[in-house]
Amino acid sequence: METKRKRRVAKEISSIVANKSIQSPEATPYFHQGSAAIFNDDFLKTTSVKDGTVDLIVTSPPYNVDIQYNSHNDQMSYKEYLEFTERWITKCYALAKPEGRFCLNIPLDKNKGGQQSVCADITTIAKQIGWKYHSTIIWNEQNISRRTAWGSWLSASAPFVIAPVEVIVVLYKERWKKTSGSKKSDITRDEFIAWTNGVWNFNGESKKRIGHPAPFPIELPRRCIKLFTYIGDLVLDPFLGSGTTLVTCAQTNRQGIGIEIDKRYCEIAKNRVLNESKNQLAFAEA
Ligand SMILES: C[S@@+](CC[C@H](N)C(=O)[O-])C[C@H]1O[C@@H](n2cnc3c(N)ncnc32)[C@H](O)[C@@H]1O
Repeated sequence: METKRKRRVAKEISSIVANKSIQSPEATPYFHQGSAAIFNDDFLKTTSVKDGTVDLIVTSPPYNVDIQYNSHNDQMSYKEYLEFTERWITKCYALAKPEGRFCLNIPLDKNKGGQQSVCADITTIAKQIGWKYHSTIIWNEQNISRRTAWGSWLSASAPFVIAPVEVIVVLYKERWKKTSGSKKSDITRDEFIAWTNGVWNFNGESKKRIGHPAPFPIELPRRCIKLFTYIGDLVLDPFLGSGTTLVTCAQTNRQGIGIEIDKRYCEIAKNRVLNESKNQLAFAEA
């Protein structure tokens, strides 16, 4: 009976997600509406998305800076963190289409618990897996201060230098040129000119307002989605958190799949998709 129900829901989802990217029957979404689906699952283990089907991955993984997530240990050794990184980026590679793109929001450097070149190390891992490098966008998160200490004040003995920015590393699987999809872009002239300058200035999101310890603002996935996908493309966020990427997909008429390990964050994401999405049925009904 349960299998029959799962089969029915998976079939329903498959027909909503036009390119049938969702596996069945074991893939039962936590929530779906229009062309958005949330899976409460461990991304490393999930079988909910089919290989070779995703047009764009936009995500901000855990940064390993001791954020108190409900269901994830954000305080591994750096070696363990890079091993975890290699595993999930390998999975992303398998899920992407040959023309698939990957916008990876990570810190430039890490200074908490010892300095590390996080962006350089993760970019190297992604390239070893097979991802090709396009560019790195600097996100100047204007309302966030990353300064915690001066090191040695007014002395050359051991001063700390910290760039108060994050980055979005832009990668692709096999070919940069997109030849598939609706070929319909919705980016305006002004947006295109502004966003192809790879220094982005906009504020971070309030944790308190969203109820999640590390949300990114809608502006981040919005720029990535409008720059790098066509209307109707499939976007995946393997670390969905509070659902920002899915809300953006619904607002921009893209299909969206989000995976989130914590049920309480899935519930936040579901409510955000229900409350903050505009045009969310437009694509499914077109
Ligand atoms: C930096 S947050 C993402 C925030 C998101 N961009 C937003 O706007 O809310 C990382 C998320 O990854 C989730 N997570 C950690 N490990 C995971 C895993 N193995 N599979 C799926 N989600 C995971 C955490 O619970 C957390 O919500």
